[in-house]
Amino acid sequence: TVLILDFGSQYSHLITRRIREFGVYCELLPCTQKIKDLDFTPKGIILSGSPYSITDKDAPHADPEIFDLGVPILGICYGLQEIGLAKGAGSTGLARHSEYGFAKMELNDVPEVPHANALFKNVEKTTQVWMSHGDHLDNLPNDFVIIGKTDTSAYAAIAHNSEPIYGIQFHPEVTHSIEGKTVLRNFAVDICKCSSNWTMDSFIDKEIDRIRSVVGESGSVVGAVSGGVDSTVAAVLMKRAIGDRFHAVLVDNGVMRLNECQQVKETLGSSLGINLRVVDSSELFLSRLKGVTDPEKKRKIIGNAFIEVFESEAHKIDAECEASGSGKIEFLLQGTLYPDVIESISFKGPSATIKSHHNVGGLLEDMRLKLIEPLRELFKDEVRSLGLLLGIPDDLIWRHPFPGPGIAIRVLGEVTPEQVEIARNADYIYIEEIKKAGLYKKISQAYAALLPVRSVGVMGDMRTYEQVIALRAVETTDFMTADWFEFPPTILKRISNRIINEVRGVNRVVYDISSKPPSTIEWE
Ligand code: XMP
Repeated sequence: TVLILDFGSQYSHLITRRIREFGVYCELLPCTQKIKDLDFTPKGIILSGSPYSITDKDAPHADPEIFDLGVPILGICYGLQEIGLAKGAGSTGLARHSEYGFAKMELNDVPEVPHANALFKNVEKTTQVWMSHGDHLDNLPNDFVIIGKTDTSAYAAIAHNSEPIYGIQFHPEVTHSIEGKTVLRNFAVDICKCSSNWTMDSFIDKEIDRIRSVVGESGSVVGAVSGGVDSTVAAVLMKRAIGDRFHAVLVDNGVMRLNECQQVKETLGSSLGINLRVVDSSELFLSRLKGVTDPEKKRKIIGNAFIEVFESEAHKIDAECEASGSGKIEFLLQGTLYPDVIESISFKGPSATIKSHHNVGGLLEDMRLKLIEPLRELFKDEVRSLGLLLGIPDDLIWRHPFPGPGIAIRVLGEVTPEQVEIARNADYIYIEEIKKAGLYKKISQAYAALLPVRSVGVMGDMRTYEQVIALRAVETTDFMTADWFEFPPTILKRISNRIINEVRGVNRVVYDISSKPPSTIEWE
């Protein structure tokens, strides 16, 4: 296991993800973790980046004992400053100097220190890296050598001259650092000597056993499903473990995609045999959204209405179970993934909330349900492999993610049934054409947003004054950073023609060419 100490950077969990991608198990823990309290012995330690400046009075610091363990240490960004501070660069040597964006790093070969260049094995002599930092090292800590530099950072990468301690200013976990993954692999596999044997096969049996022993012989479990990958995989695992004692609920909130509710019924209910009930609450949701334009308010309204509907259904199921003599509902299933877990254990509360997500909260407190979270150790790609192994259809596994608040945050401004209809129809055509062109899997997420502006057009001899559809398509592996997808122009042309001709109320289609950061994937 590689231990990653989280100093609060937005990117901390990406480090974990990247390392797991090549089969090495790693754990992300708050930077305040005491080494003596660990229940495992790490083979290496990574210190993450941080929103703090190392010179801040309340700047977080790692347990100094990490340096006594004798295992390899890699400091990233703030982690580099932390090493610098611990190893004697002194606080005066840490200058405030912001740098954000791409940089070219030149490797510096140090033949007299053999372990130093192991970090950059198979990395090009000049490599593109991603910088995002406030501080930089102003002088080299004692006993360290330079292994990489950029135009603005003389100490972009350093290594201790006798111990396997490394510091890098750039972020290898962000895909913008082209050879970042190689650097992390070199560290975890070659330098820390971790084996790459973390796989999904072993996970299924272990998890089904765990669910059975937690739920027991008679308890029942309730859980919401959405038709997305996470809730479906969690539901199939539950079904395999406890059969019909797992009760799945699909809440139709009126802002799902075209025909989505029907599809979920067919796939989860009919094909996968999950004990599923569907609650049509579209009117409730849409009436509460009336007149609301603020994106966060929309999210809150949908989140609260969802809890209300789901709770009422859970109470009904509980009463039915009681009446029929089958076990009471004791657990609530949640498809929580590792990134959500990490977010909630961060050392000073969650890292800055960019948007409020609604899938956690005070759900069912009065029923005193215990949470059961079979996916809490997994990242998204791991959940997909698991889903395929569990026999979930390919098109569901590869379905683009869809936000809980659904089309409500893709109809910008007020959400009315008419606006939802326009966005829904445009989105359907868009996705259909993407699939026809064979591009669906290449794109990580695509959708159509309805903008709250009107523009002038001409159709036949008539002047029109209608709405605008914005097409969004991004490529990403982590959804923290994303690039806009480069469509062949002929496909965009066909999509635009079809939407303008087939969707009433739209006379203009635009394509969104913004990357994340600084934009986000959703428009609201
Ligand atoms: P952003 O817009 O923050 O989106 O770049 C990143 C990913 O998160 C999804 N998303 C949400 N999912 N509830 C959800 O369940 C939400 O409120 C929400 N907001 C964004 C988004 O679709 C993308 O995949």
